[in-house]
Amino acid sequence: NSSSFVKVLGQDYPTDEKTNITSAIIEKLDRRLHLQPAHPIGTLRTLIESHFPSFSSYSDFSPVVTPAKNFDDLSFPEDHPGRSVTDSYYINNDLMLRTHTSAHEVETFAKGVREWLLTADVYRRDEIDASHYPAFHQMEGARIFDTSPNGIRELEEDNARLAAHLQRSNIVIEDIPHITATNPHQPLHDPKHSELVAQNLKLSLNSLILDLFGGRAGAAEGEPLRVRWIEAYFPFTSPSYEVEVFFHGKWLEILGCGVVLQSTLDRARVPDSIGWAFGLGLERIAMILYSIPDIRLFWSQDPRFLEQFAPGVINTFKPFSKYPACYKDVSFWLSDKSLHENDFCDLVRDTAGDLVEDVKLIDAFTHPKTQRSSRCFRINYRSMDKSLTNEEANVLHEQVIARLKQNFGVEIR
Ligand code: PHE
Repeated sequence: NSSSFVKVLGQDYPTDEKTNITSAIIEKLDRRLHLQPAHPIGTLRTLIESHFPSFSSYSDFSPVVTPAKNFDDLSFPEDHPGRSVTDSYYINNDLMLRTHTSAHEVETFAKGVREWLLTADVYRRDEIDASHYPAFHQMEGARIFDTSPNGIRELEEDNARLAAHLQRSNIVIEDIPHITATNPHQPLHDPKHSELVAQNLKLSLNSLILDLFGGRAGAAEGEPLRVRWIEAYFPFTSPSYEVEVFFHGKWLEILGCGVVLQSTLDRARVPDSIGWAFGLGLERIAMILYSIPDIRLFWSQDPRFLEQFAPGVINTFKPFSKYPACYKDVSFWLSDKSLHENDFCDLVRDTAGDLVEDVKLIDAFTHPKTQRSSRCFRINYRSMDKSLTNEEANVLHEQVIARLKQNFGVEIR
């Protein structure tokens, strides 16, 4: 409907067939948790900024970007799944919510700054559980070096300085080779330069991780913190890596990074340079450092949450009592309209807001004769600040079912 508009951050935008942004998401856009000084996300930003004192810091870029900025500038292929409406939030064909802080790499490099940090809220359609939320915060960091002999000498000196600094005991870092056949340097790069930049990246991030986690996480149980580097793939870096931290019995991914694709620097018109970039997930790190058990809590306006924190201080979160869970299942036959799991999660999120803790697909089935497909989802309704009655959960669940029928033409089983 071309005469419809959606209001985003005080501005009206025309909607079209691509529009899939929901009111539950729109409400998050002006919260700016990373700029609240006492909020864990704000504190983490300032701690990381002070770890990189010579870097320029940015934290005020609008979440509304063009798909060109979010994807094309970073060499995402035309058919990359991240571009689809099932993965990303679109305002319309021409505008979307950034899915990562890398969306600002080109414009930031184009300012001429050679080492910078950029913190922002990012948005992705995703599953619902304790560590996934469709709105979260990332910090992008990047540094580029001159490829002149002087620049490379500085890089080598910096590597020696960082390596000397990295001497602590209660952290075990599992490393991998900087460059391999499956994680190659870029054809345009001198392999020696690429190797040195990758080394600088790893040393810089290991030193940040030691600074943030040293003596904190895991220390209580007397166990060392375990960190591992793994080979990764991003369309805009090569070689690429991910870093995971062992937390509550699971490896939790906290960042992605790599040597910046030369085409990104070319688009920013930065000549004769080579460098690295990383993007880290602030919620994941804050959950570990503060022992915050559920990612929804970051958005809580409850004083029992907010009043536990002070600017610049990392303290252990004391959970207020957990209220009982209320599980409700819904089983239905699909119509000819497609329904992605993320569509279902967004519908639930938009109906029940933060009263939904977890959504699981528990059954998917196609009838052998009729070829009709059915789905069964289990929704866990739980409030973080009161005991939800069965009647209240029923009201929400009925609304979910009504919208499911209306928007996706499903037939309840
Ligand atoms: N933008 C990537 C993500 O969100 C992380 C990343 C940043 C990877 C910078 C490489 C370089 O997953």
